[in-house]
Amino acid sequence: MSKKLTISSIKQAKGVKSLVMITAYDALFSKLVSESADMILVGDSLNMSFAGKSDTISATLEQMIYHTNAVCMGAPNSFVICDMPFGTYIDKERALDNAIKIFQQTQADCVKIEGGQDKADIIAHLSANGIAVCGHIGLLPQSVRSEGGYKVKGKTEEQRESIIADAKAVEKAGAFCMVIEGTKADVAKEVAEAVSIPVIGIGAGADVDGQVLVFSDMLGLFEAFTPKFVKKYLDGATLVKNAVKEYADEVATKAFPAEEHTY
Ligand code: KIV
Repeated sequence: MSKKLTISSIKQAKGVKSLVMITAYDALFSKLVSESADMILVGDSLNMSFAGKSDTISATLEQMIYHTNAVCMGAPNSFVICDMPFGTYIDKERALDNAIKIFQQTQADCVKIEGGQDKADIIAHLSANGIAVCGHIGLLPQSVRSEGGYKVKGKTEEQRESIIADAKAVEKAGAFCMVIEGTKADVAKEVAEAVSIPVIGIGAGADVDGQVLVFSDMLGLFEAFTPKFVKKYLDGATLVKNAVKEYADEVATKAFPAEEHTY
């Protein structure tokens, strides 16, 4: 990406181009993905694919700040979103204190928080205090324990109405865009039509304003499980394992280092 997107250019993209968002957790990968992504999300999914935990719940603010800094170093011309982790936005004051820490200690362009109508006052408070917010509705990974698993949303009329109300509440509160996760495609389409800010889908079908994928999923590096919505664009795990095996074999046989690698 040559020119860094801004809040207004992202909003203006709705209906004009499909936005590309991808996660990254470090400078190495943020530099690589920045060439094709409009926005880089430092998702709390890093707690799973990077830190090896079984869910995102134990991600900390310090962790998010550390990784966001690394991402910003690797991709200084990219629009970077920092996920606010579980427990850091349970009320307006705590949310603002923690979002200020993110803004002061990193170059993040905005924060992302999970929730709809229930988080509207928090989104409004952050927005009113100069913190741009990306919403996150539908399936909420930070609710995995309270909900007893990852459950696709929008399957009932009640859920459909609630998700559309969430989207409208998030927009009205001042968010400039939102992610919709794990939601029936027809409901996600309705959501995208119901609001005037971009709706970025993950497991929410094609009829939204852009897509986001976790880089370690789409590059086939994360092997623990593969959700239905993930397309693997690379068999990264096999490539890495084969390369390391080749290296190990060459060390064993002393084929490495060769003359050209030797001072
Ligand atoms: O943490 C994350 O990577 C996310 C995406 C799944 C949207 O929130």
